[in-house]
Amino acid sequence: MTNYTPLGVYVHWPYCARICPYCDFNIYKNQTIDAARWIEVLTHDLEHWAAQTPNRKLASLYFGGGTPSLAPLGVIDAVIRACEQLWGFAPDPEITIEANPTDAEQLHFEALAGAGVTRLSLGVQSLRDDALAFLGRDHDAASAKRSIETAQRVFNRTTFDLIYARPGQTLDAWRAELSQALDFGARHLSLYQLTIEPGTAFAKAVSAGRWAPAGEDLCADQFDLAQEMTAAAGLPAYEISNHAAPGEHSQHNLIYWNYHDYIGVGPGAHGRLNIDGRRLATEAAKAPADYLVEGADGYATEELDDAAQLVERLTMGLRLTDGVTLYADDYFYADEARTERLDALIADGLVTLDCGRLRATANGRRVLNAVLFELLR
Ligand SMILES: C[S@@+](CC[C@H](N)C(=O)[O-])C[C@H]1O[C@@H](n2cnc3c(N)ncnc32)[C@H](O)[C@@H]1O
Repeated sequence: MTNYTPLGVYVHWPYCARICPYCDFNIYKNQTIDAARWIEVLTHDLEHWAAQTPNRKLASLYFGGGTPSLAPLGVIDAVIRACEQLWGFAPDPEITIEANPTDAEQLHFEALAGAGVTRLSLGVQSLRDDALAFLGRDHDAASAKRSIETAQRVFNRTTFDLIYARPGQTLDAWRAELSQALDFGARHLSLYQLTIEPGTAFAKAVSAGRWAPAGEDLCADQFDLAQEMTAAAGLPAYEISNHAAPGEHSQHNLIYWNYHDYIGVGPGAHGRLNIDGRRLATEAAKAPADYLVEGADGYATEELDDAAQLVERLTMGLRLTDGVTLYADDYFYADEARTERLDALIADGLVTLDCGRLRATANGRRVLNAVLFELLR
């Protein structure tokens, strides 16, 4: 019997043309690629996970990175073919690839579309040259704008990322930049507040006092402005950082946020699967060289107990405007003190519980970490 609980596959391509000073993803400087070896290991990996997820169709396939738009087309094509053969796609599947504006060649995008990619996610980051220089990007505003137009010409579904709450960025400057972004008629946008991640060049610069991150109040004002402007443009927030017109939500990311099942292949990729009633967390070998040797044999797998699952379910689900379902027999209610804390959060107007749906309010989403701490401590 076919199990239609949404299942997605995430493929991590770990290479980038350059390492951005803010980025702490599992990434490495681009190098000569043995495409045949990558195809062999990724395909074997997918076979490994397909054997454990029989009778399921794929709702989504997501190539993330790093910069998967740098991957040899043969690798992208082989992975899509393997997914078709091993699971088959559910009707109207979403096949997304992340790309950098520097790779936004019309022919390349057409070749990706020809291989089966249905959605393109562009790492634009900013539409201002000074901000792009600060963020260490190897593209300028003009090429960013061209890449958006090229993507929109080739793909029915596109999205692009912007990083805001940058040091020195005023509310007016953010309003002007976001208005420019909305003028492209985007139907999906990811708007990320700059975070200073440990171990990055930005973290070193901040701790050396070279510059200071934007203040919390300004960040909150810029967040509120983003909510207002995107809603007014017809792509309201459906998640803390993600905004979409109806029907344009990222199906793949919704699998994460709704705590459904996903398979992660590629160096350092994570997965979450329900197998034989157990919730498994999986992680592939992190270093590309190890991954290419170990492949499917190099996975760390851990069974998640009820408490661990609740932490993940709420942490992911409350990011969604639509929140998360609490079932009558939910482990959430196993702790009476938690129910009392929930009542206090409801009284403070930070969350609502309606027909078993727990949602963070607009005020709650501004202080989501504090809300989660209260619910999960
Ligand atoms: C996997 S990255 C995309 C990689 C793609 N190669 C690129 O650079 O465009 C996903 C997105 O996370 C966001 N991101 C990464 N590090 C961040 C940080 N420290 N603060 C805010 N956003 C960040 C960026 O917007 C980036 O496009």
